[in-house]
Amino acid sequence: MSQLIVKTEKLNFSYSKSKKDIDSLDLEVPKGSIYGFLGPNGSGKTTTIRLLLGLLNKNSGNVKVFEKPFADHRIDTLSKIGALIENPSLYNHLSAKQNLRIASTYRANINKDRIDEVLETVNLLHVKNKKVKTFSLGMKQRLGLAIALLSKPELLILDEPTNGLDPKGIIEMRELIKKLNKEGITIFISSHLLSEIEKTCTHVGIIREGKMLFQDTVKALTASQSDRLQIELETDDKYRTYDQLIKMGFETKKIAHEEHLLMVSVKEKSQIPVLVDSLRKNNIGIYQVTIKNNLEELFLNLTEN
Ligand SMILES: Nc1ncnc2c1ncn2[C@@H]1O[C@H](COP(=O)(O)OP(=O)(O)OP(=O)(O)O)[C@@H](O)[C@H]1O
Ligand SMILES: [Mg+2]
Repeated sequence: MSQLIVKTEKLNFSYSKSKKDIDSLDLEVPKGSIYGFLGPNGSGKTTTIRLLLGLLNKNSGNVKVFEKPFADHRIDTLSKIGALIENPSLYNHLSAKQNLRIASTYRANINKDRIDEVLETVNLLHVKNKKVKTFSLGMKQRLGLAIALLSKPELLILDEPTNGLDPKGIIEMRELIKKLNKEGITIFISSHLLSEIEKTCTHVGIIREGKMLFQDTVKALTASQSDRLQIELETDDKYRTYDQLIKMGFETKKIAHEEHLLMVSVKEKSQIPVLVDSLRKNNIGIYQVTIKNNLEELFLNLTEN
């Protein structure tokens, strides 16, 4: 088994006596991975990250980072971690470069060239002298990442780095994360969007109400769902379509409050043309056939109820 950069055992934490916010969490982040920490709002992602960084004190359990107990090697460990939690705190009236200069004074052994290096990495070198207040959200987020990269971290912890970004900003951040990972940095990234995790990550942990529901490779997660495919079908007659598909033996559900939509479960893609042909033979007009993301379904199954 590969080396684990982060390992927690039965990690527990509560903000108040009334509920467990992190509940016996076993987290395993392999070296070299892009680990996606996935969960709905309020599931405990940021709290877990704060516990990993020692910004909150656990109630019980173990946290090992770089194979050493965090509590005993705090300073050494933190010097090897770059973190971006929620929105970065930046000085808006100063330039990107000035922000990095200030950040570098809080860190040991950062030479002058490193500032230009990280600006180049996050593609902000050409605007290094512009004031941060003129930056887009995506540029600010990338500057936050540049700050996290200053000390050449081995582990990068990013809390919802694409939150609030437009599609272009999201793609830029995604590409950047992949590039940094190729350069050898292990990346722990939280998100409430499965599609984000699926596109970027090698590993996934799904959390709900402070409990880990699933943890494995993204491949394993996909494979665990691959025996069934969910199809969303839009036709001109939902009820006749439903009757026809049931007659053919397909597991079919009408989508409530949708005039034309049905969900159909098929075993493999080759069943789709069979289904379409039979509907056409019955003069049912087909507007749309969409293969629904299986992971999305699983995520909903795991996180609802
Ligand atoms: N400072 C705090 N004091 C008390 N309760 C808190 C505090 N911060 C978070 N919580 C509670 O802890 C639980 C986990 O919150 P957390 O912020 O870790 O979730 P999250 O997964 O990061 O959510 P989001 O996707 O909204 O960022 C929630 O029930 C939240 O209300
Ligand atoms: Mg959060």
